[in-house]
Amino acid sequence: MGSHSFSLLVSFVMLALATTPATAFSSTLSPYYYYQTCPQALTTIKRVVEDAIRQEHRMGASLLRLHFHDCFVQGCDASILLDQTSTIDSEKTARPNNNSARGFEVIDKIKLEVDKACGRPVVSCADILAVAARDSVVALGGPTWMVQLGRRDSTTASQSEANTDIPSPLMDLPQLIENFKNKGLDTKDLVALSGGHSLGFAQCFVFRNRIYNESNIDPTFARDRQSTCPKSSGNSNLAPLDPTTAIFDTKYFSNLEKKKGLLHSDQALYNGGETDGLVKSYSTDIWAFWKDFAKSMIKLGNIEPLTGENGQIRSNCRMVN
Ligand code: HEM
Ligand SMILES: *[C@@H]1O[C@H](CO)[C@@H](O)[C@H](O)[C@H]1NC(C)=O
Ligand SMILES: *[C@@H]1O[C@H](CO)[C@@H](O)[C@H](O)[C@H]1NC(C)=O
Repeated sequence: MGSHSFSLLVSFVMLALATTPATAFSSTLSPYYYYQTCPQALTTIKRVVEDAIRQEHRMGASLLRLHFHDCFVQGCDASILLDQTSTIDSEKTARPNNNSARGFEVIDKIKLEVDKACGRPVVSCADILAVAARDSVVALGGPTWMVQLGRRDSTTASQSEANTDIPSPLMDLPQLIENFKNKGLDTKDLVALSGGHSLGFAQCFVFRNRIYNESNIDPTFARDRQSTCPKSSGNSNLAPLDPTTAIFDTKYFSNLEKKKGLLHSDQALYNGGETDGLVKSYSTDIWAFWKDFAKSMIKLGNIEPLTGENGQIRSNCRMVN
């Protein structure tokens, strides 16, 4: 090899190292983690996810959100799946999750099927969440990516951290940027990952103030949403986060340009601030959106995983062994 190509190789290796997420231990995760111990793991997860989405399209959205809410609290450690006990401070009833996070039965089903396929519990609940999120996006027409694997499951949960660390739909752009920054995610990650709102629904009480009181909203859109979200009732009535709730497209972003963002935090990404340009480019460039979304999902999945001797592989995702 000539010295030129050698130095080229060196710069590639250095680039690879430099782009490895800063989060500790993330380099010990690998897409091939279960290759030896359970070669059927990924196909089994995919089958159960696809079945669940066939029965209810919204389930893909719910599973994607579960992984996000897991990773923002103590890292991607399946802490969100633990039920309340005398020693577990369950995250399920934290403000962002209570009567909102869903898909727990599907995760149980996946765990059961995967453990059966492997012959013993070798696949962590945290990895199941990460793979189910990817498979959901793919099933609804979005991009794919190699999911890093080898996370272990927590033996604790934190309702208070779920309350403080999961972003609120009332946040403005600087708060959203700060919230993501606290998890090692940058402004581009924030905008790309918010594209997760290309899928699924929100309840009336989280966007009521926006559709009745805010001015950076399309009036026809506001009236339309008001018709199914009364001023003082119908708290849990659902509205679509974008016009195509079961297709992973760019309508979420083009809607923001038309002031048709459903959540205050959605419209904050296109409200005259520094992220307007990214929203604009994603709205017309699905490949750029998909590429950045996939990249940011890998970064999300690398937040503080438990590896090595830390944590455990739960037998039941709802409880500590
Ligand atoms: C940027 C800050 C974010 C805020 C403030 C936020 C807030 C919310 C809120 C309030 C809802 C509606 C919940 C309900 O009414 O029950 C929701 C739904 C959803 N979020 Fe986010 N979210 C954010 C980022 C993300 C990210 C990064 C993802 C995934 C990559 C995501 C995926 C989803 C999905 C798929 C739904 C629909 C869930 C369903 O229909 O079951 N969100 N989000
Ligand atoms: C969660 O929602 C239930 C209603 O389903 C309510 O009774 C309970 O107080 C809520 N929990 C918390 C911690 O807010
Ligand atoms: C609109 O804003 C006012 C003043 O902040 C508040 O009292 C009222 O509850 C808001 N209305 C809705 C429907 O959120």
